[in-house]
Amino acid sequence: MSTVLVTGASRGIGAEFVRQYAADGWRVHALARDPGCSKVLADACRTHGERICTHAVDVTNHAAIDALAGDLAGTPIDLLLNVAGVLVANPFGQSDYERWMNSVRVNLFGPMKVSEAFVEHVAASDQRKIVTLTSVLGSIGGNAAGGMYDYRSTKAAVNAIMKSMSLDLARRRIIAVPIHPGWVRTDMGGARAEVDVATSVTGMRAVIAGLTPAQSGRFLTYQGAELPW
Ligand SMILES: NC(=O)c1ccc[n+]([C@@H]2O[C@H](COP(=O)([O-])OP(=O)(O)OC[C@H]3O[C@@H](n4cnc5c(N)ncnc54)[C@H](OP(=O)(O)O)[C@@H]3O)[C@@H](O)[C@H]2O)c1
Repeated sequence: MSTVLVTGASRGIGAEFVRQYAADGWRVHALARDPGCSKVLADACRTHGERICTHAVDVTNHAAIDALAGDLAGTPIDLLLNVAGVLVANPFGQSDYERWMNSVRVNLFGPMKVSEAFVEHVAASDQRKIVTLTSVLGSIGGNAAGGMYDYRSTKAAVNAIMKSMSLDLARRRIIAVPIHPGWVRTDMGGARAEVDVATSVTGMRAVIAGLTPAQSGRFLTYQGAELPW
């Protein structure tokens, strides 16, 4: 049985990853700040209870991440999915640096810390993949609209760390990619977004399943296209 660890599992894209992987027979470690408060997670646990293990972890709490990595020592994790994220989009001249720093802690340090804490679990698995949810808004080459300083900068930075991880971890045969899920109808994406969450996650699961070492470090979309940095 393959195993996936998902952060941001309480709602949106993370919750849908939990639901789809569990339905597909994977063992799922679902990390959420307060798993007991998530109706979608509770529904998934009711349907696939034996395959889903929930853990109360805030991705800004490094001690909690280390503690969970210790609890799961010896457990191979085929796929580490960094999904937790926040979006703040203050226009130029109205930056809120406290909130921006929280975005750095969640969107950038979160995936870095979780990847560092669980790298041995991934290295011990068959599939050896680390995937981080980024955004096309983190593409500097693709930025034609401006604005969104907070969100864009944290996603561009997380792209940079995923690229480095792909190079540093290649000798351990670990594949690392940042992936853009599309503009998805979630709390973050809003009701006018283009893609429903099931379509986005189905697409990303297909891309992830087909990842080859040659694709490690590429900036991919949920449909498998490559984006400019
Ligand atoms: N939706 C889109 O159109 C879109 C587009 C491009 C990229 N993305 C990226 O895709 C990922 C998922 O987005 P989404 O649309 O599913 O967002 P969402 O519906 O707003 O859900 C965000 C998730 O992140 C969790 N989270 C936030 N801060 C956290 C923290 N400190 N510790 C642990 N979990 C935390 C939330 O948990 P709580 O329930 O506890 O708040 C929630 O589970 C994000 O990284 C986002 O940047 C989304």
